[in-house]
Amino acid sequence: MKPLFNFEEANMPEEVRGILYGQDILSVSQFNKDVIEYVFTRTLEMREMVQKQGTADLLKGKVAAFIFYEPSTRTSSSFIAATQRLGGGIIPITSGVSFSSVSKGETLEDTMRVLQQYADVIVLRHPQIGAAKRAAAAANVPVINAGDGPGEHPTQALLDLFTIRDELGKIDGLKVAMVGDLRYGRTVHSLTRLLMQYDVKLRFVSPEILRLPLNLMNQVIDAKIDVRETHNIADVIDDVDVLYMTRVQKERFTDIEQYESVKDYYVLGPELMAKAKEKMIVMHPLPRVGEIDEAIDDDPRSGWFRQAQNGMFVRMTLLAGVLGRA
Ligand code: CP
Repeated sequence: MKPLFNFEEANMPEEVRGILYGQDILSVSQFNKDVIEYVFTRTLEMREMVQKQGTADLLKGKVAAFIFYEPSTRTSSSFIAATQRLGGGIIPITSGVSFSSVSKGETLEDTMRVLQQYADVIVLRHPQIGAAKRAAAAANVPVINAGDGPGEHPTQALLDLFTIRDELGKIDGLKVAMVGDLRYGRTVHSLTRLLMQYDVKLRFVSPEILRLPLNLMNQVIDAKIDVRETHNIADVIDDVDVLYMTRVQKERFTDIEQYESVKDYYVLGPELMAKAKEKMIVMHPLPRVGEIDEAIDDDPRSGWFRQAQNGMFVRMTLLAGVLGRA
């Protein structure tokens, strides 16, 4: 296995260094194909390292702070595991900011100004679009966006794209369907933006009130992507390579009756999967709340737990890339 120390600043290609080393990660728009390729190559090394030896000391002497103003299982725990697997220290404020001074009225900006006194990088989840950008403007250490309301979730999109490439061997030429809450689903927004850089066909499947935001759809159209919208999974299931399921985001609705009207709109089960291609993958950023029947968990095409595991490897790469080593 190659040594992991090719993250050293000196070994990072110039175009990657400018995007990762010492930088915030706020949006997938920062990532061009060269950087994505670099991240994927390093991520394969991280996976191999974990499988062979479990840990490395690439982040020894570095500390990462995690502050989550919204609940999380995967993003928080995979980021923490990623830091620890690379020998770094953690400040985990992940089980609710009610136990931090946020509950006393401290501003996001002040919270950043304080955490930067202790940590070399801050990973933030927040319910408001643009919060990560605000935090980055206040902090003098890199800020990584772990989800800003219905805005973006860039590290999730990178792990999603890594999973697609890892499972299907390519990205160009694929037909990808995204299903469910395309309006509020930040993972859909980020993944769509990443996929727009590739030669893919996109299919958006949602109830009328949960369609992809118009500004993002216009970007897809401007990028000359082959795109179609439908309300019905059956319209796409038989010829997609990736079926990206999502949860209806109850916490974003102001009208609970509207939520109730769409919460069970899609359920993917054995009957629909029988129509899907033999070589394809079903993904979900998780948590699932009924839109995927557990009866298909053992189907080899069900990729969501492998996807979740990839999150740790990709986040190892991103933390190491952002922090670099002198
Ligand atoms: N995929 C994802 O963001 O999951 P969590 O909300 O559990 O972090």
